[in-house]
Amino acid sequence: MRTLLRTVEKVLDHDVNLLLLGESGTGKDYLAEAIHACGKRRGKPFVKIDCAGIPAELFESELFGFEKGTFTDAQSRKLGKLEAVKGGTVYFDDIASLTPALQAKLLRAIQEKRFTRLGGNQTLSLDGRVISSSSTPADELLAGLRRDLLYRINVVTLTIPPLRERRQDIPRLATSFLARRRRGIDAEAMQMLVEHEWPGNIRELRNVIERATLVEESDVITPAALPPFTADFVASASRNQWTLDDLESRYIREILRQTRSNYSRAAKILGINRKTLLEKRRRYGIE
Ligand SMILES: Nc1ncnc2c1ncn2[C@@H]1O[C@H](COP(=O)(O)OP(=O)(O)O)[C@@H](O)[C@H]1O
Ligand SMILES: [Mg+2]
Repeated sequence: MRTLLRTVEKVLDHDVNLLLLGESGTGKDYLAEAIHACGKRRGKPFVKIDCAGIPAELFESELFGFEKGTFTDAQSRKLGKLEAVKGGTVYFDDIASLTPALQAKLLRAIQEKRFTRLGGNQTLSLDGRVISSSSTPADELLAGLRRDLLYRINVVTLTIPPLRERRQDIPRLATSFLARRRRGIDAEAMQMLVEHEWPGNIRELRNVIERATLVEESDVITPAALPPFTADFVASASRNQWTLDDLESRYIREILRQTRSNYSRAAKILGINRKTLLEKRRRYGIE
């Protein structure tokens, strides 16, 4: 992240085209907006184009606009999103989801910094910084994206690592999401957040915390308010080189959490008797 942020600082005030890569939920939209808000174009529009969300047949009219009478139902002129950029930033989210034909049209606009409304002949200028994003890994991007467009949008690539590769950031992110709800978190619950794999990255972390603040009635989030993260056990165990004792104590904690400390039910799930469970609980210092 430090290397990434150093690069961000360097490109902030230079209009090089940026390509943001990273799994879903790593913060590409967040970074694009931050770059806009901190660069010299702040205060001007930030126009997000959701390439995956706009149906292909509507994409051109959304982007370039159209003149009155271009289609039977074109009652009046419609301005395109590119016209709204006006010296700000245009952000093409999930650009690799565009069809090759649309990629070619977009390439022309980005390359020439000019476009016309559908059915019109007035040349309009595309005035602004261009940021694009994709959640496709860099090596697969070539398969979905025209090479000429890729080279054009990808002057500088910024790759945001998945959350599981920067676990040191989890406590700070979690604490900041909790602070918005004026809540705290206990050490055990925080440890669970740090050990989770976070396939949905920061978006998932934020959702888990928002849900926990609804479930937990006290001021401090405890493990009981977190969803079951058990599927991650084997991944966490091998990555952190847990001993069998570590694994056992964590599994017991997890099952006690899920059964809300119903010892008879927990013992049944664990396949041991209640007395053994109580002994193990004492041995591992589980509250
Ligand atoms: N560095 C960050 N600090 C705080 N919140 C963040 C950060 N990065 C992302 N988020 C939050 O995480 C969620 C997902 O971010 P988003 O930018 O939409 O991810 P992506 O576009 O990569 O799928 C959003 O709610 C966003 O506000
Ligand atoms: Mg996004």
